[in-house]
Amino acid sequence: MNIIELKDICKTYGRGAEEVRILRGISLTVATGDFVAIVGPSGSGKSTLMNTIGLLDSPTSGSYVLDGVKTDKLSDSQMAVVRNKKIGFIFQQFNLLPRLTALENVELPLIYSGMGKSERRDKAKRMLESLGMGPRTGHRPSQLSGGQQQRVAIARALATSPALLLADEPTGALDSKTGTEVLELMIQLNDQGNTIVLITHDPHIAEHAKRVVSIRDGEIVEDKRNVSPPRQVVTV
Ligand SMILES: Nc1ncnc2c1ncn2[C@@H]1O[C@H](COP(=O)(O)OP(=O)(O)OP(=O)(O)O)[C@@H](O)[C@H]1O
Ligand SMILES: [Mg+2]
Repeated sequence: MNIIELKDICKTYGRGAEEVRILRGISLTVATGDFVAIVGPSGSGKSTLMNTIGLLDSPTSGSYVLDGVKTDKLSDSQMAVVRNKKIGFIFQQFNLLPRLTALENVELPLIYSGMGKSERRDKAKRMLESLGMGPRTGHRPSQLSGGQQQRVAIARALATSPALLLADEPTGALDSKTGTEVLELMIQLNDQGNTIVLITHDPHIAEHAKRVVSIRDGEIVEDKRNVSPPRQVVTV
């Protein structure tokens, strides 16, 4: 079963002489349970691709089937529903809401999905506990370290049990020790059956994925499987 089926995806900005082609015919399928690292130099189109996969942005042309759902004719509001249901996002800068506590941040996607209050409190609490954040559910983001904020963001991403976890440079804002912990967490989540697509420009992180897709100037230039990716992370 494929969770992602991208066919000939192009993304351009501007028109005529101003036109810039950011994605140039990306075709990519990702199987359920896989752990894919997307790598490439700055400006190569990684985040644009991730925004397309995450239904945050529509391609200029091409087709995209997400977990069996054809996405090209969805309205913005239908897209938001599919996104909330199927995708958990993890960003470099965590993207937590500063005025909300850790618990309230994790509850947010559950509110959008229509879950009742006590059920979502419990759910959010359990998610935070499973990530070692039990004692800090009442803290606001500014009262947490970078690694702790990323754990809250991961709890938020996982709260809706999404079919797909998308992470854009999830360790990019962390020191190497904390980054290692977050990478270990991602490996663990994949071992538990979560499908992960992670963007990184760090080859050390990509080594731990099962598959590495390299992008350059908006095109896939390499797509390889890591034969036995290490399940433990050694800090370099
Ligand atoms: N809204 C936009 N309008 C015009 N150009 C854009 C827009 N968004 C992104 N771009 C351009 O698209 C190209 C790819 O950007 P993208 O953010 O996907 O790169 P990236 O591979 O994620 O880079 P990085 O590693 O620095 O995060 C860049 O040249 C960027 O300037
Ligand atoms: Mg980027």
